[in-house]
Amino acid sequence: MTAPEDDRQFDSLLDYLQRTRGFDFKAYKRLGLMRRIQRRMQVVGVDGFGTYLDYLEVHPEEFPQLFNAILINVTAFFRDQPAWDSLAADVVPKVLATKKANEPLRVWSAGCASGEEAYTLAMVLSEALGRDDFCNRVKIYATDVDEDALNKARLATYRAPEVACIPTPLLSKYFERNGDRFTFDKDLRRCVIFGRHDLIQDAPISRIDLLVCRNTLMYFNAEAQARILARFHFALCPAGFLFLGRAEMLLTHSNTFTPVNLKRRIFAKVPKVSLRDHLLIMAQTGMEEAPENHLFNHVRLRDLSFDADPTPQIILDANGTLLMANEKARATFNLNPKDLGRPFQDLELSYRPAELRTHIGQAQAQRRTVELKGVSWMPPGGEARFIDVQIVPLIDIAGNVQGLKIRFEDVTGYKHLQAELQQSNQELETAYEEIQTSNEELQSTNEELETTNEELQSTNEELETMNEELQSSNEELRTMNDELHLRTEQLDQVNAFLESILTSLQSGVAVLKKDLQVQVWNGRSEDLWGLRSEEVQGKNFLNLDIGLPVEKLRQPIKASLSDDGAPTLVTVDAVNRRGRAIRCAVRCSPLVGHDKQVRGTILLMEELDGSRPESPYGH
Ligand SMILES: C[S@@+](CC[C@H](N)C(=O)[O-])C[C@H]1O[C@@H](n2cnc3c(N)ncnc32)[C@H](O)[C@@H]1O
Repeated sequence: MTAPEDDRQFDSLLDYLQRTRGFDFKAYKRLGLMRRIQRRMQVVGVDGFGTYLDYLEVHPEEFPQLFNAILINVTAFFRDQPAWDSLAADVVPKVLATKKANEPLRVWSAGCASGEEAYTLAMVLSEALGRDDFCNRVKIYATDVDEDALNKARLATYRAPEVACIPTPLLSKYFERNGDRFTFDKDLRRCVIFGRHDLIQDAPISRIDLLVCRNTLMYFNAEAQARILARFHFALCPAGFLFLGRAEMLLTHSNTFTPVNLKRRIFAKVPKVSLRDHLLIMAQTGMEEAPENHLFNHVRLRDLSFDADPTPQIILDANGTLLMANEKARATFNLNPKDLGRPFQDLELSYRPAELRTHIGQAQAQRRTVELKGVSWMPPGGEARFIDVQIVPLIDIAGNVQGLKIRFEDVTGYKHLQAELQQSNQELETAYEEIQTSNEELQSTNEELETTNEELQSTNEELETMNEELQSSNEELRTMNDELHLRTEQLDQVNAFLESILTSLQSGVAVLKKDLQVQVWNGRSEDLWGLRSEEVQGKNFLNLDIGLPVEKLRQPIKASLSDDGAPTLVTVDAVNRRGRAIRCAVRCSPLVGHDKQVRGTILLMEELDGSRPESPYGH
């Protein structure tokens, strides 16, 4: 099948699972999901996702097996112990510090599998709070999408190998032993609430102080991870913490969660305070009522402000009479009090440093500010200066030009700086081009590094999921192995029993296969004919070179191998291992299997002594 066809069939299978069972597996990492489904396909012996879909339609009992394979439930108490140690030592005290005495504490174990993680949390918190406080204040919401896992979690009872990783003092403090079963403390158990919750589809639980979601996010693709993390952000209180699994990093979510202990994957919520809210608070605190009835003060202050302004400026009325000149203007242009009230055009300032009269007329007529930039001026006895002149019409509320303000801004320093800047700019430009080239190279290296980093993260998650899959297969193999051991022991016992029967028999016993190869040769046979079991096994009985005239047995053996074969007895002259002539009775009996088919023949060989009758077996 072509890869696109395979992909299409896989998508149809996922659609089918969503439509019929309500599971949205599209949110899971595709490759891992394919691998796990393919494993199920191998077990039921179908090839191709399309065929598997058909199989599911006629075998609904396959669904639970499939979901078991997809939703890996691998878990453990205190899984990744150093991370739990950090949580207990650094985070739990911080969570408790944000709470008043007796204030409730809400914890969420999301993807709790069979409950080990939720009960670990209960033990850690009970150690921090004390048993009574824990029972009064703490609620642990433990959720998973897998009902079977939740049912096991609700029982709160585990086998010895499952509790082996709980530190002994905690095990004896929090579990009651019943044979090889350990049941979690009943009082603490009441504070753990289990429920089905799908991280992809269901609304989050709210006002959570500590959210534990370990080794679950890594099964989801990046888009679903982002969606779940946004919900977790909503779920947490402003001072809440998030505790993830060893392979889960939150590389691209630094605006919502900030690391508290990155190595142990513990994060704090970034409580979002918007700039707007911040400004609103600022505005409220700054809103003090202005003192009334101080118009006079205002005018005086305005005049003082005008006079003290470091930029030289003058005010003309609508007829061109000089009304005001601030201190800096008076000093710079040598104006004296007698000049106030004179027509501006009579003053030197009206044409030096720049011819202003026409521009004044223009500002007045066009009712807009006129600007003259970089006017050069040589003050008497001083150095050359550059001045920007602004002629601003003063327009009242009715739209009439009441006068003009003229500002003379000394931009000499600025001009010098500009020239220097131009020079530096050119130098900078050259340097900039060089830097830009290096920058582009750096940027592309950086992007590559970022991609590699993300790929590494994803590979890491992928490895961790494969590890869990392996762990789950390992457990299955271990169970099979235990069974095999048991069977082997039983087989050993049966073999030993058979061996002791064969050894205890006073007759020589030889068991032959249908092709007359020797299969069993007991101790008495060795004793009679002087060949060890290893020497005869697998050899054709009729080719054995022993003191028994085997040729004479050909016929009875053949007879016993026939379908209706009956036991026959033959007595022959033979020579035993010591070279003594003996009479030997040989009984050939068919070896019949479970299926009633003849599988070979059993020969019983007994030396007859003179005192005994010819046939030790009777006829
Ligand atoms: C590997 S276990 C992790 C158990 C535990 N948190 C730990 O770290 O030991 C992953 C769990 O995630 C659950 N899970 C998978 N998809 C889920 C979903 N959409 N919503 C909730 N739980 C989900 C599985 O059922 C499984 O129990």
